[in-house]
Amino acid sequence: MSWWRDAVVYQVYPRSFADGNGDGVGDIAGIESRLPYLRDLGVDALWINPWYVSPMADGGYDVADYHMIDPVFGTLWDAERLIGAVHRHGMRIIVDIVPNHTSDRHPWFQAALAAGPGSPERARFHFRDAPNNWRSRFGGPAWSRVDDGQWYLHLFDAAQPDLNWDHPEVRAEFESILRFWLDRGVDGFRIDVADRLVKQAGLPDRPEREQLVPSYQDNGEQPDKDRPEVHEIYRAWRRVLDEYPDRAFVGEMWVTDPERFARYLRPDELHTAFNFAFLKCAWDARALREVVDRTLATHARVGAPPTWVLSNHDVTRHATRYGREDTRFVKRVHDVPTDLALGRRRARAAALLSMALPGSVYVYQGDELGLPEVFDLPDAVREDPVFRTGGRDLGRDGCRVPIPWGGDAPPFEFGTGGAWLPQPGEWRDLTAARQLGDPASMLSLYRLALRVRRDEPALGDGPLRWLEMGDGVLAFARDPGFTCAVNLGVEPVPLPEGRPLVASAELTADGEPALPPDAAVWLST
Ligand code: GLC
Repeated sequence: MSWWRDAVVYQVYPRSFADGNGDGVGDIAGIESRLPYLRDLGVDALWINPWYVSPMADGGYDVADYHMIDPVFGTLWDAERLIGAVHRHGMRIIVDIVPNHTSDRHPWFQAALAAGPGSPERARFHFRDAPNNWRSRFGGPAWSRVDDGQWYLHLFDAAQPDLNWDHPEVRAEFESILRFWLDRGVDGFRIDVADRLVKQAGLPDRPEREQLVPSYQDNGEQPDKDRPEVHEIYRAWRRVLDEYPDRAFVGEMWVTDPERFARYLRPDELHTAFNFAFLKCAWDARALREVVDRTLATHARVGAPPTWVLSNHDVTRHATRYGREDTRFVKRVHDVPTDLALGRRRARAAALLSMALPGSVYVYQGDELGLPEVFDLPDAVREDPVFRTGGRDLGRDGCRVPIPWGGDAPPFEFGTGGAWLPQPGEWRDLTAARQLGDPASMLSLYRLALRVRRDEPALGDGPLRWLEMGDGVLAFARDPGFTCAVNLGVEPVPLPEGRPLVASAELTADGEPALPPDAAVWLST
């Protein structure tokens, strides 16, 4: 079976993972030094967020050179060495590709600015004499004006001009970028905002009411999103990828309509895509069961394996979300009461749930340590353009705080030269080193569960059978001989039959065997 059908993929946000050269920012040398940790954690693959040359207006999602590594992370040679080292550690490596937009420092955009209105250089982007009413996903208009009076489109930051995917040179260039990295041995690509590349011809205004929908909720075909023509691009990309054995795409599409989502996963397009319906879902048995059923049905239509995602570098960490009254992810909020102990307890159960469901699993760096979102960063250190352009939304820096590896004080062995975002002092109790020595820690739970998942023939890809254990309990069997039960209710419930393999909490209530609230168990049956 292909590895990507059931892989556990660990997301490395390189600026915040591990700093090898002591400049306070994570880098490739840091990642390499922590490969034994990732191997021992039990993940199958790494996905590295953008590491290309970038002015970092959007944390590297503003790429100025797709063929070079940003000096803050290292060199191309370091990247090639890392790819080899990951493989030697028995893992795979997926890199991020950012095709919707470049950086405003990309030579193409610089040439477009210099060449002036009507030039062939401008045709690779969307330049117009007047803007339409589209809004940037980061807030404010999606158009900025250049000195000669023309406007260019940017669905994200003004430093991220959107490419014109109707232009043959744009298409050819990205196929060549894919080959460049495939030739260096990467095992696949995570495609940034995969649903937005193609825009409706003529760039018509969006209906006014749609402007108000938060970016994580919007749906369906729109003038700037999910156009039918985008699929032709992925068919072409798939032909390129299929020239190399065993490689895979994972698409980032915030498309909620199941039928439209599935189109990206047709057999001649992308292999997998992030399941954001699962990430957004409330900690609620009925809602989660609906999402699981819908996910399985959606993917079955096209024969693609589902993915299970709880957090990433764009959303509030789930240990925090699950400790709130409203446990859904609708948009980022920071001023609501949070019970972190509850959030972490649920996060433990959610980890077991996500690893037992059919398909592949994503682990965002720090999930395995139970890291919470950090809200009290000083404004001056916040870098996310979401914060810089609006200020009301604190942005995404709070889920990007550097990883605490060990020690008793910041930067907690992240590196020797501080950390680009300050870590909370309480993280001394959450360091990887501290958790490794504690069998009850989140890290020990992840390590055990991933080991069992790897050895357990019933887990990974394949079917699932629901078991009825009453309202508030999600329970399912996987053949042969495996049961997962998650209690999302408020009362303990009797344990299902079987020999417990892994549990997220102690399996007792009032001294009797039971599955307590907000706990999950795996059993061999
Ligand atoms: C994706 C990335 C996000 C980035 C945006 C623009 O949503 O995950 O971090 O800001 O695309 O590239």
